[in-house]
Amino acid sequence: MKKTILALGSLLPAEMDALEAQYHLVRLWRESDPEKTLQDVKNNVVAIVSAYNGMPVTRKIIESLPNLEIIAQFGVGVDNIDLAAAAERRIAVTSTPDILTADTADTAMALTLSLLRRVVEADMYVRVGKWANGAFPLATSLKGKKVGIIGLGRIGQAIARRMSAFDMEIAYHGPRRKEGVPYAYYNDLSSMAQDVDILVAACPGGAMTKHCVNSRVLKALGPKGFLINIARGSVVSTDDLLIALRNGDIAGAGLDVYENEPHVPDALISMDNVVLLPHVGSATSETRSSMGQLVVANILAHFNGEPLLTPVAA
Ligand code: 8YV
Repeated sequence: MKKTILALGSLLPAEMDALEAQYHLVRLWRESDPEKTLQDVKNNVVAIVSAYNGMPVTRKIIESLPNLEIIAQFGVGVDNIDLAAAAERRIAVTSTPDILTADTADTAMALTLSLLRRVVEADMYVRVGKWANGAFPLATSLKGKKVGIIGLGRIGQAIARRMSAFDMEIAYHGPRRKEGVPYAYYNDLSSMAQDVDILVAACPGGAMTKHCVNSRVLKALGPKGFLINIARGSVVSTDDLLIALRNGDIAGAGLDVYENEPHVPDALISMDNVVLLPHVGSATSETRSSMGQLVVANILAHFNGEPLLTPVAA
């Protein structure tokens, strides 16, 4: 009998097919009565496939699957998984780091360029025929600006390299100073926000970073400062951000992620000084297909008794 994989989120079709060729694959979100399906299959489930935009991997789900051995996440962030519950049962967890770094860093760059150079507004200006009546208002130059990156991990460093190439000066904040990087370190986030023009969130989500960008940090960033978030919506207090944008405490924000995805507050949608993307950091065909292949490879490695390719440290 085929082993059962419980999919709580989806890979691209080719990789779902690859799993289906070897396993009994249950796409839980497609079931009309997911609770009943879970009851029916729970004793056979040996693996979960999860994704940030799928159903969360809660303690309840983990505890309801007595034979679960591995949770393979389609993504680098694992804040949708109850890692403590997985660790208690010694369930392996894998993610898809590195292969999405470049695309996610490119997304931060795209947001920064769009926001400072007002690319989205300028495009609209041409489309609605305003150009014939006068030149588009001046924007803000990237060159020479100071950037403060929250979280200088793989994605943070890729953003730093890109921003350096745009002649920007880089600083970073995180739990500890990184050896061998040429950027200024701040252990206090408000102090860094005070000193930079652009604050970029590139840190993991979860309890450690929840709402670390709050009204104090936004006020420190100041009326000429910009916020970019390609990390997790939870990193920024939405209420504080809305107030800061409305009051002109900061100049603008470029967001790929939100606290309650896929819901974006109406107040944000009605603002001109924001650029809003629908969580597309890793959303290219190339990267999403590599991510899916890595999910499949981790599952196959596990059941072949081989080392996992990209385990998440317990
Ligand atoms: C999502 C992401 O995984 O890697 C991450 O942490 O947020 C994304 O790549 C992807 O959008 C699927 O949910």
